[in-house]
Amino acid sequence: MVLVDRYGRVATDLRVSLTDRCNLRCTYCMPEEGLAWLPRQDILTDDEVVRLVRIAVQRLGVTEVRFTGGEPLLRRGLVDIVAACARLTPRPELSLTTNAVGLVRVAGALAEAGLDRVNGSLDTIRADRFEALTHRRRLDDVLAGLAAARAAGLEPVKINAVLMRGINDDEAPELLAWALEHGYELRFIEQMPLDAQHGWDRSTMVTADEILASLLSVFSLTPLPDEARGSAPAETWLVNGGPERVGVIASVTRPFCGACDRTRLTAEGEVRNCLFARDESDLRGPMRAGADDEELARRWQTAMAGKAAGHGIDDPGFLQPARPMSAIGG
Ligand code: 5AD
Ligand code: SF4
Repeated sequence: MVLVDRYGRVATDLRVSLTDRCNLRCTYCMPEEGLAWLPRQDILTDDEVVRLVRIAVQRLGVTEVRFTGGEPLLRRGLVDIVAACARLTPRPELSLTTNAVGLVRVAGALAEAGLDRVNGSLDTIRADRFEALTHRRRLDDVLAGLAAARAAGLEPVKINAVLMRGINDDEAPELLAWALEHGYELRFIEQMPLDAQHGWDRSTMVTADEILASLLSVFSLTPLPDEARGSAPAETWLVNGGPERVGVIASVTRPFCGACDRTRLTAEGEVRNCLFARDESDLRGPMRAGADDEELARRWQTAMAGKAAGHGIDDPGFLQPARPMSAIGG
C-alpha cells in the first residue's frame, strides 16, 4: 500500500506539525499579537502522533519524517516522540525544521534520541533586522542553537531564508558568506502566500532570479545537474567551484509540484495533501472513535489520492488556504 495520487506521484516524505504555537512572529507568517492557538484537547497526544507515524512508515511507504510547527521545540514531548519514531522498523529518516530558539538546550538530547538532521529558519544575521522581522530579540539564541545542532552532529544543518523587499532583500551575499563560514547549507525560499494576515503580494515578492543575480555579484555559481535534484524542492548551485552549495526554493516562479513527494499531518491530526490544499481529512476523530490501523491507513490513502496537480498560485481563482503556515506545518 502506498500514498499515490491520480497523477502517479507517490508520497514518501511526511511532515508532522507538532504544535501551531511559536515564540517568534515572522512577519510573513504571524501577526505580532500571535494567533488563536488550537485548544489542547484538539492536538494529537504524543502516543497518537507516534501511532500515525508508525502507520505511515509501516503501511504506507513513508521513508522520511520531518517534525515542524509552529515551533516544534515548544512541544514538550518532542524528544520522546523522536525516540519512539527512531525505534520503528523500518527506521525512517528523522529531521526537524525549527527556528532554533532554545535548540542549544536540546540539540544533544535530540541527537541521542535519533534525530538525523536539522533545518533552521533564519532570514537575517543583523540584530536590528532580526527584531524587525520576528518581533523578538532572539538572534543570539538562534545562532547558538544552530551551532549546537552542528556540534551535536545533526548535519548537514540547512538554513532556510526568506527575503522580503525593503527589509532584507540586500542581504543574500552576506547570508551566504556567513553560512559558508559556519559550515551551514543555505537555501533561499521565495515567500509564499501563507501568512495569517493575507498580506502576500506577488508583485513585491523577491524572486529566485533576483536572488541569483544578487549572489552572482559576489560569488560564482555552477548549477548542479537536474538529475541530482530528484523530488527536492531546492535547485542547487556549487559556490565558487564547490564543494559548498547554495539552494533556491522557487515555489512560486518555478513550481515543482510535478515531483512532489510530500504528505502532511497537522497538529490536530488532519491529513493535508498539499501546503495549498483547501481541504483536509481528519484522522483524529476516527482514531479517537476506535478506528484500527487498517482503516486509518485507508483514510490517509483516500486523502492523498485527491491531491491537486499544482498549487495554482498563478491561477486567477487562487485562494490562499484558510490555515496559515504555522498551523499547517512547513
Ligand atoms: N513563505 C515562504 N516560507 C515560509 N516559511 C514560513 N512562512 C513562509 C512563507 N509565507 C518558512 C519558514 C521556515 C519554513 C518552515 O517555512 O521560514 O523556514
Ligand atoms: Fe514561528 Fe516559523 Fe512562523 Fe517564524 S515562520 S513565526 S519561526 S512558525
